[in-house]
Amino acid sequence: MAAPGASRSASDNEAWWKSAVVYQIYVRSFADTDGDGIGDLPGIVEHLDYLQELGIDVIWLSPVYRSPQEDNGYDVSDYRDVDPLFGTLEDLDRLLAAVHLRGMRLIMDLVVNHTSSQHPWFLASRCSRESATSEWYFWRDARPGTVPGEPGSEPNNWGASFGGSAWEWVPERGQYYLHLFAPSQPDLNWDNPDTREAVFTMMDWWLDRGIDGFRMDVINFISKDPLLPDAPLNRDGYGDGMPYFSHGPQIHAYLAEMKRRVFDPRPGTYLTVGEMPGVTPEQARELTDQEHGHLNMVFQYEHVALDADGDKWTRRPMSVNDLRDTLARWQTALGDTGWNSLYWNNHDQPRVVSRYGNDTTYWRESATALATVLHLHRGTPYVYQGEEIGMTNAGFAGIDDFRDIESLDHYRTAVGTHREDPSVALDALRRQSRDNARTPMQWSAAPGAGFTTGSPWIGVNPNHSWLNVATQRGVRTSIYEFYRALIALRHRLPVVVDGSFAAIETGRDQIYAFRRHLGNAALTVYANLSDLPVSVDRDDRVDRDLVLANYPGSRRDPDRLEPWEVRVYLR
Ligand code: NOJ
Repeated sequence: MAAPGASRSASDNEAWWKSAVVYQIYVRSFADTDGDGIGDLPGIVEHLDYLQELGIDVIWLSPVYRSPQEDNGYDVSDYRDVDPLFGTLEDLDRLLAAVHLRGMRLIMDLVVNHTSSQHPWFLASRCSRESATSEWYFWRDARPGTVPGEPGSEPNNWGASFGGSAWEWVPERGQYYLHLFAPSQPDLNWDNPDTREAVFTMMDWWLDRGIDGFRMDVINFISKDPLLPDAPLNRDGYGDGMPYFSHGPQIHAYLAEMKRRVFDPRPGTYLTVGEMPGVTPEQARELTDQEHGHLNMVFQYEHVALDADGDKWTRRPMSVNDLRDTLARWQTALGDTGWNSLYWNNHDQPRVVSRYGNDTTYWRESATALATVLHLHRGTPYVYQGEEIGMTNAGFAGIDDFRDIESLDHYRTAVGTHREDPSVALDALRRQSRDNARTPMQWSAAPGAGFTTGSPWIGVNPNHSWLNVATQRGVRTSIYEFYRALIALRHRLPVVVDGSFAAIETGRDQIYAFRRHLGNAALTVYANLSDLPVSVDRDDRVDRDLVLANYPGSRRDPDRLEPWEVRVYLR
């Protein structure tokens, strides 16, 4: 089928995704045009000029497929339709055409480690062992010597990401099925060739429609150790099966098959980015090896786990040393063999300015410093909606303000099962909940933040009265205009895209400094990632022209960096 915008040109054969800046749209929180309080596809069309002005090359849409929405669309019941909450397939075609008209591209979220329990594949599979999709999921008998269906008789001891056992009993089949996430998200069995073919055919269908690639949800979980063994217990008393379901024995085979079967036969180049919790730099280098790898890039998690002590709800202070070391280690490890994806934020992470920055005294300074460090690394940067205006954590008042399945489960387990003080559990949620990222995009100071004229599905952050697009657009000193300048720098200077990376040792704990080299060009970044001023020795032979800074010239001392000051020099 030749859908609008399906044509691809010869220039598409280049690795265009290397110089691209990607913008993630969490559709339900971006822009609502029909007043139901939930963002929709026509809402995105209305803001394409904004994204173009910002300098965005690629839009990543969080899942808009038909879904019971138990995990906000990461539970798909029909891969080939749009959920009526967000619009129609025709709306999506219109959006795609409008994106392409502006010379931008669009990638979709591919959620194929699991489906919704309402997907017809699963509905048939759960009914009978004779059905065509009987083997498309992980079905197992109860543990030998136990009473099937009773607690303790699960096939293994693994816990699920959103609480409880990773197994659910189905009396009709007399077996358990595996769900690494919620019970409504059964894991697909990729070891079955028919399952893989069905996924690949579905990917073909979307690529034929004209989309430009996929962000692949927890794609390093698709190959599991076939023995599904018990695992050492975690704090909740369940086994942590990660070593057995992450980066399993067939991961290379399945991703190589996907590339061979889906992407290689097509003219042009697509963006493929795999979300991979727990991936190591060595694995990432192999997976993204520009000659032999299977994906363009992966999302790693190390730099967004530096404030977590064991689990994400238990806090430990993040040290700048750790952050710097982690970032630099990934830059060096992937080198010029693999390719990094660069991100601070997405729909699963609290807002970075509240988390690693300072969202009060140094709100503007820390948001711009963190942005600079990220965007001037080697790799493809991702901007999550609202990050470009410095949106902060939500400051939720009570448990009723939260919507996220993971957050609500944590509260239930912490308070209900572990008898934790509710205020302690709430504090953890306020800090780490995914809902921090999901409050509506702040377009203006209007009552619904310009996001909706109705009642929003999740509360609007009260700070939208001053923190919004309208107050920043066109204002030279705003975070938004800083992002524009940063993105323009990438588009203008080849050294930002292709330059090598080397960390600079300054002898100061608060400073992260690094240099990028390409031919004679050298780009140097000095960033003070702290609330205190610090002295700095620069190299005047290399640090010639100041091309970007987040403090005005009048406050710039050559030998000292102010709190969260960042400077970028070019030779
Ligand atoms: C990762 C997604 O980003 C997250 O939002 C989702 O809950 C899980 N995968 C399960 O699909």
